[in-house]
Amino acid sequence: MRIAVVGSRGQLGRALLEVLTDDLVLPMARPEYDITNLEAIRKGLLAFRPDVVILTAAFTNVDGCEREPEKAYAVNALGTRNVALATYECGAAMVYVSTNEVFDGTKREPYWEFDPPNPIGVYGRSKLAGEQFVRDILSRFYIVRTAWLYYHGGNNFVTKIIRAADERGALRVVADEVSNPTYALDLACAISKLIRTGHYGIYHFTNSGSCSRYEFACLILKLSGRGDVPVEPITSDQWKRVATPPLYTPLRNFCGAQIDITLRPWQEALKAFFEREPGLKKSSDERAG
Ligand SMILES: NC(=O)c1ccc[n+]([C@@H]2O[C@H](COP(=O)([O-])OP(=O)(O)OC[C@H]3O[C@@H](n4cnc5c(N)ncnc54)[C@H](OP(=O)(O)O)[C@@H]3O)[C@@H](O)[C@H]2O)c1
Repeated sequence: MRIAVVGSRGQLGRALLEVLTDDLVLPMARPEYDITNLEAIRKGLLAFRPDVVILTAAFTNVDGCEREPEKAYAVNALGTRNVALATYECGAAMVYVSTNEVFDGTKREPYWEFDPPNPIGVYGRSKLAGEQFVRDILSRFYIVRTAWLYYHGGNNFVTKIIRAADERGALRVVADEVSNPTYALDLACAISKLIRTGHYGIYHFTNSGSCSRYEFACLILKLSGRGDVPVEPITSDQWKRVATPPLYTPLRNFCGAQIDITLRPWQEALKAFFEREPGLKKSSDERAG
């Protein structure tokens, strides 16, 4: 297949390049391919003639979106519209990667693909506006919602926890925000399978099982050889930040499971991540020192 990966330098973009080795892939990244520039995206895609366009590029800083709503909508909503318009012109199918934050977090059980979105922050609203453009412009699309992504070399919760543990020696982590940690490599494998099915629609792809930020942090510390670092569970009210994320947003993969696309439990995925990251692990000698 001919596949364009838009946002190829981000966590998921790089994971897709790692996975799509049997395909002809065009990596598209800034500054040459800024999704707010329709002409640049059109030219690149029309020249390449993709079968599928995978859009992973986004303004992903949730607090940053709250501070700069115009930028959030320019990139996540209108940028997505640009990619959808160019994809339409090429006659290709599109994958749009969206987020758990399209939900308000008030449901008491995991959200499946048939639940109505109701975002409560700028990031979630701008991503939902992107979903809507994709649905309005294209008939052949996959909207793939995911959550709490991490990948090698990314700036993510895993690396932030390790950095904070090494700098401060003790942590306070929110215990009432719950979702699904997801290894971008597993998500990329699932997307690679999905685009070969022709089963267009909305999917919830995360590693299976859910946990709080606190539980996620505890396993990160244990698997990285820092299990002795004390972690205090706190509530989100005690952790001041610009955005107010929805508290309970685990996603349930119902539609993917019908076509045999499932992701392993989040604990196994995190273990696999650390097996490829010996540099992040602290040895017993370092701990003693
Ligand atoms: N990270 C998460 O926890 C999470 C959770 C749920 C859903 N998602 C969704 O999953 C997708 C992938 O996330 P990720 O973690 O891989 O994101 P990421 O690592 O933050 O990468 C995002 C990429 O988008 C690029 N980008 C930003 N604005 C752009 C623009 N105007 N034009 C072109 N490229 C632009 C960035 O380019 P530069 O490298 O030049 O900055 C970066 O490479 C996103 O759509 C995100 O909304 C992520």
